Amino acid sequence: MASFKPLHILAFGATGNIGKHIVNQLIRATPSFPRISIFTSPNTVATKPELLSQWKDAGVSVIVGDITSAEDVKRAYDGVDTAISCLGRGALEHQFELIRLADESESVRWFFPSEYGTDPDHDPSSAFEKPHQFKRRVRKTFAEDVKNLKPTYLVVGPYIEMWVDGDETFGGFDIKNKKAALLGDGDQPIGFTAMEDVGKGLVAALQRPEVSVGKVLKIASFTKSPNQILAEYEKQLGYKLDTKYVPLDDVKSLEKKFWDEGSPRAVVGTLRRIWATGGAVYDKLDNEALGLDEGQLQSLEEAVRNRIQGKPF
Ligand SMILES: NC(=O)c1ccc[n+]([C@@H]2O[C@H](COP(=O)([O-])OP(=O)(O)OC[C@H]3O[C@@H](n4cnc5c(N)ncnc54)[C@H](OP(=O)(O)O)[C@@H]3O)[C@@H](O)[C@H]2O)c1
Repeated sequence: MASFKPLHILAFGATGNIGKHIVNQLIRATPSFPRISIFTSPNTVATKPELLSQWKDAGVSVIVGDITSAEDVKRAYDGVDTAISCLGRGALEHQFELIRLADESESVRWFFPSEYGTDPDHDPSSAFEKPHQFKRRVRKTFAEDVKNLKPTYLVVGPYIEMWVDGDETFGGFDIKNKKAALLGDGDQPIGFTAMEDVGKGLVAALQRPEVSVGKVLKIASFTKSPNQILAEYEKQLGYKLDTKYVPLDDVKSLEKKFWDEGSPRAVVGTLRRIWATGGAVYDKLDNEALGLDEGQLQSLEEAVRNRIQGKPF
């Protein structure tokens, strides 16, 4: 597949937090990708008409259907060679069927499962982390059951926008109240990616099948410690933030309590504890192999400026 060129791309979950950025970057990369389609739900057609009409104006085909209907998905796959899943956590379980149908289809050859976060296979402890289970099973499915389809997994660490936008329980910046909360001692480096850079990374992967087919790719806009981010905030704001350091033992007990209670906060707690303990730093990034120069990606300075100015994401 080294010389493979995606000619018709179909994205699932395109209208979500990260899917939006991925589709916007695909559109920006036109004419690299002659046909871009998205598969969306009737609910999103009703709730996000402006986004869909903006994309239609840009030449994107919008297919409306139910991701749990084999008929709808088969119809959508007709003529598609590359599928990109950006489905949210609540829909990750539906990917197994999407992958099976893609594998059976006559045209789909390349599939990007919904990853775009922490590597669920980072180290031996990753196997036991609850939020990783669906993503690990998808990787296993590709390794053991899939015949005609190649995967690419894009690992990007935490999105800087969402990471700073946390709270005092599991870390975050609250500039309105001049406060910050950091986990542990705040010195653990983390590989962060800005959301638009996730889209750029995905486009770069599509444009370089020789680098990306069958691979787990790891990218980051920048790798910095929470204390370095705090220092950048204070420099740009011109004043100190009242900063609380949350002990990792407190994070772990709260994380356990939320899992026991079935709270959605549990996933946030686990992922933030993983990031605060070295789970989003890598021996080697694929930025260079993908042609992602530093100048193309957000810097810490730019990311903090965007957050201080309240830029929507
Ligand atoms: N690195 C990070 O910091 C970070 C943060 C958040 C998420 N992520 C990862 O990014 C990926 C995408 O997450 P996201 O937050 O972008 O997704 P999201 O906004 O929650 O959902 C994406 C789209 O999936 C579709 N969908 C269909 N059924 C769904 C269901 N039952 N539950 C949720 N979504 C459903 C919807 O699109 P349609 O209606 O158009 O079909 C929705 O707009 C996930 O793998 C997630 O783990 C990473």
